[in-house]
Amino acid sequence: MRDFLARLPKVELHLHIEGSLEPELMLALAERNGVTLPYASVEEVHGAYDFSDLQSFLDLYYQGMSVLQTARDFHDLAMAYFRRAHAEGVVHVEMHFDPQAHLVRGIDLAVVMEGLSLARREADRELGLSTALIMAFLRDRDAEEAMWVLEQAAPYWEMLDAVGLDSAEQGNPPEKFVEVFERARRLGIPRVAHAGEEGPAAYILGALDRLDVCRIDHGVRCLEDPSLVARLRDEQTVLTVCPLSNVRLRMVERLEDHPLPRLLDEGLNVTLNSDDPAYFGGGMVDNFLACHRAFGWDEAVFRRLAGNAIEAAFVDESRRDEWRRRLAEA
Ligand code: HPA
Ligand code: ZN
Repeated sequence: MRDFLARLPKVELHLHIEGSLEPELMLALAERNGVTLPYASVEEVHGAYDFSDLQSFLDLYYQGMSVLQTARDFHDLAMAYFRRAHAEGVVHVEMHFDPQAHLVRGIDLAVVMEGLSLARREADRELGLSTALIMAFLRDRDAEEAMWVLEQAAPYWEMLDAVGLDSAEQGNPPEKFVEVFERARRLGIPRVAHAGEEGPAAYILGALDRLDVCRIDHGVRCLEDPSLVARLRDEQTVLTVCPLSNVRLRMVERLEDHPLPRLLDEGLNVTLNSDDPAYFGGGMVDNFLACHRAFGWDEAVFRRLAGNAIEAAFVDESRRDEWRRRLAEA
């Protein structure tokens, strides 16, 4: 099964590039930039990754990214992930990034964009790995700041495949960001949002109706609202589900308790993703393999899931056709 899963052409739609920062690189960048971290070794970093909920993870996630200071750092971060992803049969990565988490530390958007752009070109040229860029707004900060960031990003609008919405969900409903998402819509930028990860099904509905998103990141709590499930099925809205993330952030106790099989039984358009692979115990193959072990899924299920992601990617049709061919041959 591992060989089959590695062979499968996998498209990753839900990945936070800052969440791909492995402890080794974190410590190396801390040294390079003279940043002090509360960890002296890789083991100590791993030891700290015992999360009780989304917020307890976010606290370490924002602390970890403090080592990212220069365009070179962002390049090195992204290239390290692209190489690992490529090595495990990922053909395309759609990466969220969090400009506000860097702006508040005095790191300009230009620095982030320069580093990520360089890495994206290098991945395409050297690995044949295509990538998409999703600029996420931090929903636990105010909407005016999100609007300001979108305006700041004017030189890069052309490079954005979508805008997204992430960070602490509870108490920060999609409705808070109606204006900024409307502005993105008028600019012709597609929209996605995290919803129904830790927050209620109503946030999924809000993201669809008020933010006009084309897909829902996570979305697992949709099952609490049968009429919402029917709508997600009818409209075949893509859900970017992240199994190991949901276990590590205690949305479920064990993967065996995860609603993924029910989501599939309901006929929903599910995809599998890694979210923050450095923090949650693995990349795409690890997530797929964990589902095989927990649910006993066979090759046909994984073909369907990989196919869903291929159809949903922000990519030109010639690439999509090539992946469809590779999927058929896997
Ligand atoms: N949820 C919400 N915000 C995030 C996450 C997540 O899993 N990872 C990085 N930002
Ligand atoms: Zn996420």
